[in-house]
Amino acid sequence: MERQDHLRTDGKTIRLDYTNMMSESIGGERGIKREEIEGLLPKASVIAGNIEAKRKNGEWGFYRIPYDTETVDEVLQLAASFQGWCDDFLVLGIGGSALGGKALFHALCHPLHNILPKQDRGGIPRIFFLDNIDPVTFKSVLDFIDPERTVFNVITKSGSTVETVSQFLIVRQLLADKLGKQSVGEHLVVTTGAGENRLRDIAGEEGYPLFSIQENVAGRFSVFSPVGLFPAAMSGIDIKELLAGARYADERCRTDRLWQNPAYLSGALYYLADVGKGLNINVIMPYSDALLQVAYWFRQLWAEGLGKAETVSGKRVNVGQTPVVALGTTDQHSQLQLYTEGPFNKMVTFLQVEKYSGTVPIPPQPEQEDEYSYLGGHSLEELIRVEARATQLALTEAGRSNMSLIIPEINAFIVGQLLFMLEVQTVFTAGLYDINPMDQPGVEASKRYIYGMMGRRGFGDTATGAEESQAGKGRYIV
Ligand code: PA5
Repeated sequence: MERQDHLRTDGKTIRLDYTNMMSESIGGERGIKREEIEGLLPKASVIAGNIEAKRKNGEWGFYRIPYDTETVDEVLQLAASFQGWCDDFLVLGIGGSALGGKALFHALCHPLHNILPKQDRGGIPRIFFLDNIDPVTFKSVLDFIDPERTVFNVITKSGSTVETVSQFLIVRQLLADKLGKQSVGEHLVVTTGAGENRLRDIAGEEGYPLFSIQENVAGRFSVFSPVGLFPAAMSGIDIKELLAGARYADERCRTDRLWQNPAYLSGALYYLADVGKGLNINVIMPYSDALLQVAYWFRQLWAEGLGKAETVSGKRVNVGQTPVVALGTTDQHSQLQLYTEGPFNKMVTFLQVEKYSGTVPIPPQPEQEDEYSYLGGHSLEELIRVEARATQLALTEAGRSNMSLIIPEINAFIVGQLLFMLEVQTVFTAGLYDINPMDQPGVEASKRYIYGMMGRRGFGDTATGAEESQAGKGRYIV
């Protein structure tokens, strides 16, 4: 709680510095007062009780998966069987079925992984996440890879997501055409829901290796299931360390004492900032290229988790803070002007790295080189850290709410810890809004229209009905 806190480090624990959210730092109008946090204590204790119950009765399966050692063994075994001959590993999936694996890959693998020669990648394949169906990209990737030396991981919990299913159908045909039907199963791994679905049946009928996603693990909370673990293992990431980090966060974020629980406390701060201060935009700003995809993963968690029309008891509320991703230092030259001087509707969450895994010294400059000599003898690591601090100071001086997750360094343990903390933060914040963080009714209508427009049996009327209703209202096109 004290300012000194952010200076203490044990090298492995992520800390939350929320100084600049508080009224002492940014003034009384938008700054949060201790009493406001205290005021949430009774509600927080009820939410903590509900969370503990859902954790115990298994309703929220994401709490259990970091402890599932059996799955870890299966994942490692299958990944090992592909090493050596596999040059390219392609994930076919979208939303919660892609973003977790993508975040892990970008956080924990070499930034230029895919263009390093194979021996410099330790024999690890190139890794691609095809989480869109842009035909130009998809075709380019298929033209680039050699199917004989490629493994495809189809990931879809429902087994019915139109984007992923279309990709699967194309890839299955490609493999059958190029390698023969009997070889498809050597190149396709399916990760899908444990309940019944057509993809699961096909995997069984055609003999593809299969991982299951438990029904009680929602897509955006599935990163520690085979959804994230198998791509991570294929990328050479130490998944045992990753899960150890998640378990560490679980222990730390289990206490019902709000002031001691970083995930609950940050949830309380976001909630107060949104409902009490009108800060309904949350900019998440990593000062690290490696964490950019973590920010995108969190963006989905926050948006799909909290953006809801109704409370759990059906009262209309239309809540949710809009998550926005910005990258430090790049977006200081793109967004910071708005954040510092624009409307008072946003807060910034920094992901601040204490120790980067590499640095580049800036060469000393002759003293007469007036303009540049001050930089000589410093390093890019020092500069990026200074810039993060300078941005925090500038925002704070302008009365803008901001807080920091201080990341000691980027490794599997700490990334596991970070993602799990953010998951707990999301379910706690959902409790404050009194909404269900696990459903996504708002994306269902569009899915039904897609089915209708693409001719799926039983859905034709839905789309035509909506088109007709829109047509009757006139169109404005220039
Ligand atoms: O978080 C979620 O639940 C969603 O983003 C899903 O992951 C996404 O819609 C993909 O669903 P599926 O895994 O069923 O293909």
